[in-house]
Amino acid sequence: MTDEFPSKPQDLPQPAAPQSVPHPILRAGRLVLRPLESADAPRVQEICRDRGIAATTRNVPHPYPEGAALLWIESHPELWSSGKAAVFGICLDEDQGASLVGAIGLEINPLDHHAEIGYWLSRECWGQGICTEAVEVIVRFGFEQLGLQRIHAICMASNPASGRVLEKNGLIKEGRLRNHIRKWGVFHDVDVYGILRRDSDLVAHRDG
Ligand SMILES: CC(C)(COP(=O)(O)OP(=O)(O)OC[C@H]1O[C@@H](n2cnc3c(N)ncnc32)[C@H](O)[C@@H]1OP(=O)(O)O)[C@@H](O)C(=O)NCCC(=O)NCCS
Repeated sequence: MTDEFPSKPQDLPQPAAPQSVPHPILRAGRLVLRPLESADAPRVQEICRDRGIAATTRNVPHPYPEGAALLWIESHPELWSSGKAAVFGICLDEDQGASLVGAIGLEINPLDHHAEIGYWLSRECWGQGICTEAVEVIVRFGFEQLGLQRIHAICMASNPASGRVLEKNGLIKEGRLRNHIRKWGVFHDVDVYGILRRDSDLVAHRDG
């Protein structure tokens, strides 16, 4: 009889959760990805009150309630230390200093060694390749630092810019879930994109 459910776990690197190390700062090119701080709350509030951000994200409400940014930021240290999520502010490293333009994060499932990626960017920064670069940094971080086996994203089928960002980073469109989410009373199809650690090695070799 064949063993359908092998009892021996595969020889996989363990994800680094719960996190016993400080939340890192990641730098790549013009980007600095760093933990958000209480002082960032007014800027986050300003960015997230844009209906165009709420319209294509699951967790950004509209209207964006006063104080919501601070509450969200204050939840991050516990999420990091418990290994449930890693959230970074996306900053542009300019001459005047690093300005906060968005956020990106991984919601981690330590049991299955996978994480869901999510992001948003201030509208005036759209179309400059910033999110594409931020996703590249976070995918590498997820595989190399967190030891993940899989990273996926779920984006509304009506959000081609997000799908393009993912595809440019080697995430493959794995399928469409019809009427999967209900946003503002309307059901929407969503596309699932995913990348495996072994795919990411191929991407690294191809690019290198
Ligand atoms: C999605 C979002 C993060 C993209 O960020 P960005 O920095 O503008 O993305 P980039 O500039 O790195 O890349 C965008 C790509 O999408 C393409 N694109 C933009 N609008 C498009 C459209 N309507 N149809 C097809 N492609 C489109 C761009 O041409 C670009 O691809 P290219 O480099 O091959 O030309 C940003 O629009 C955003 O914050 N949206 C609101 C929040 C959101 O939707 N978050 C994602 C939830 S899953």
